Amino acid sequence: MITIQKLTDTEFETPVFEKQDFALEALHGLSSTPKFLPTKYLYDDEGTRLFQMITKLPEYYLTRSEAEILETHKDKLSLLMGDEPFNLVELGAGDGHKTRILVEHFLDQKLNFEYVPIDISQLAVDILINSFQKRYNDLNAIGLVAEYTQGIKWLHKTTHLRNLVLFLGSSIGNFNPNESRRFLQSLWTVLNPDDIVVIGFDLKKDIQLLTKAYNDSQGITRDFNLNLLKRMNEELGGSFNLSKFSHYEFYNVHSGAMVSYLISQEKQSVYINDLKQLFHFETLESVHTESSYKYSDSDIRHMASQTGFKVIDQLTDINSYFIDSIWKTNKPY
Ligand code: AVI
Repeated sequence: MITIQKLTDTEFETPVFEKQDFALEALHGLSSTPKFLPTKYLYDDEGTRLFQMITKLPEYYLTRSEAEILETHKDKLSLLMGDEPFNLVELGAGDGHKTRILVEHFLDQKLNFEYVPIDISQLAVDILINSFQKRYNDLNAIGLVAEYTQGIKWLHKTTHLRNLVLFLGSSIGNFNPNESRRFLQSLWTVLNPDDIVVIGFDLKKDIQLLTKAYNDSQGITRDFNLNLLKRMNEELGGSFNLSKFSHYEFYNVHSGAMVSYLISQEKQSVYINDLKQLFHFETLESVHTESSYKYSDSDIRHMASQTGFKVIDQLTDINSYFIDSIWKTNKPY
């Protein structure tokens, strides 16, 4: 049976994302120097659709590389889980394109599992659950519309089965190293000693290759970023003229991240009605929208040891562009 559940915060009173949160965070980010907007707001329904287009772009090697890894090594994962029942938990499930490889393989192997995709986008969870429902009659699944941490808390409260947690697609790369550590530590605290975590890391590599992946020739990555301004126009009564902003993205060798900005093409002021405030932009003033951190093999091992995990395998694609790192909680029973 397949169901969808929308999780609320710990008091189970307020919805996951209030328009008010968006307004307050936009106010904070656009009043700061330098300006920024929180990355999570890239993913409204339109942003989710644009991101799914990005994953299919020729320049965006990440998704293809990871699909290759899962296809090649799916047996290793089924062997790790064995015959006992478990939850296949996916954090930030998106369209589930890569997970399908594992779900099909686990069903073929007659493993006893329930699939639990967790995503902040209601649309993404709806699409995912509907397509899985059509394809796999035998699949047990529950889709959760929630932020990762809410999903993890829910998991901890609701089930005592063993977990195989997937955090794929380099989603971890959108956290800075401190945020990653905090997130992984909070994940560690709710996991059982026997649980397995699979984390997709994009590897540090040739800078031209990285730069192309985030500056695609069709301009989808640009539209994905500009959609944040469109979203403020639609949801907060903003008056951004999108043609007066450009997208600029480069690799910062010091931080090891692709960093993404919207750049004001001229001196301008933008009024946001819900905030009753005018925001001023100088010519070439930037608004930071996203960082995508890249890792080396040793960065990954260091991150695992700092957060209580033990690396049990580093699965990579033929080009060594990407790693799915397999971790175990290094916990006593
Ligand atoms: C979702 N995340 C892992 C993507 C990334 O590569 O950082 C988002 C993205 N932004 C631009 N292109 C893709």
